[in-house]
Amino acid sequence: MTQYSGQEFGVGNAEDRVIELNGVWKTYRMGDQDVNALAGVDLQIQRGSFWAISGSSGSGKSTMLNLLGCLDRPTQGKYLLEGQDIASTSDDELSDLRLKHLGFIFQNFNLIPQLTVQENIVLPLFYQGIDPNEANERGQSIAALVGLAERLGHRPTELSGGQQQRVAIARALANNPSVLLADEPTGNLDTATGDSIMELLVELHDQGKTIIMVTHEPEIAAYAQYQLVMRDGNIESITDQTNNEHHAQKSVVQA
Ligand SMILES: Nc1ncnc2c1ncn2[C@@H]1O[C@H](COP(=O)(O)OP(=O)(O)OP(=O)(O)O)[C@@H](O)[C@H]1O
Ligand SMILES: [Mg+2]
Repeated sequence: MTQYSGQEFGVGNAEDRVIELNGVWKTYRMGDQDVNALAGVDLQIQRGSFWAISGSSGSGKSTMLNLLGCLDRPTQGKYLLEGQDIASTSDDELSDLRLKHLGFIFQNFNLIPQLTVQENIVLPLFYQGIDPNEANERGQSIAALVGLAERLGHRPTELSGGQQQRVAIARALANNPSVLLADEPTGNLDTATGDSIMELLVELHDQGKTIIMVTHEPEIAAYAQYQLVMRDGNIESITDQTNNEHHAQKSVVQA
């Protein structure tokens, strides 16, 4: 394991970077006080890498994930997603960017209870105006990928927690996004089910997905390549858990 300081950490060539944060601040005005939820974060995320973000309560993890997910914009600083500066996008363009490049996985699954598994999975495709036949075909193959081929007609309440999270992962994959963002994806699951969900994420990572996950569980963070720890709105440390040759070649300054 190698310990890096966050500010000095950089991976990959510019074209390999799916995400780049430069001096990013997120400041909330609370009465007459400013709260810096993010305080000058610099970060490069290489395409195909797998990250776990942890840190104590209030350290800025959710703020960071919301920002990476284009659900929010920086107060100050630059966020480049697939090379595009999100500061110069309209709200509509921002939701297009989200639909095109990002898949979201939540602790509470956030499935629509009235819809079947199949309908939940293909929902993002309808928002994109994709032909229903094509959407349904894609939905079926993604459901098979996450082990739900036999459950397409079920509703979320008829599924176990682990199965519900698989539906949510399938839905996140429907647009074939380059980045999967997961907020405590195993937080509502027992250990064995959580491990099987993590194995699925590892498989998706092996297939080339970039994955960024917030978790407070060290056993879950251990599945990722990079463990990023937040503290007081900034990156306290980044630990490379793989340390194989591929990662050792990155332009990294060791702390
Ligand atoms: N909408 C908001 N308005 C004002 N302050 C906020 C807002 N959202 C977050 N904050 C503040 O920003 C800081 C970072 O919050 P954030 O939710 O990102 O932390 P977190 O690391 O996700 O914590 P937790 O582990 O408890 O979820 C905290 O001090 C929080 O109080
Ligand atoms: Mg949070």
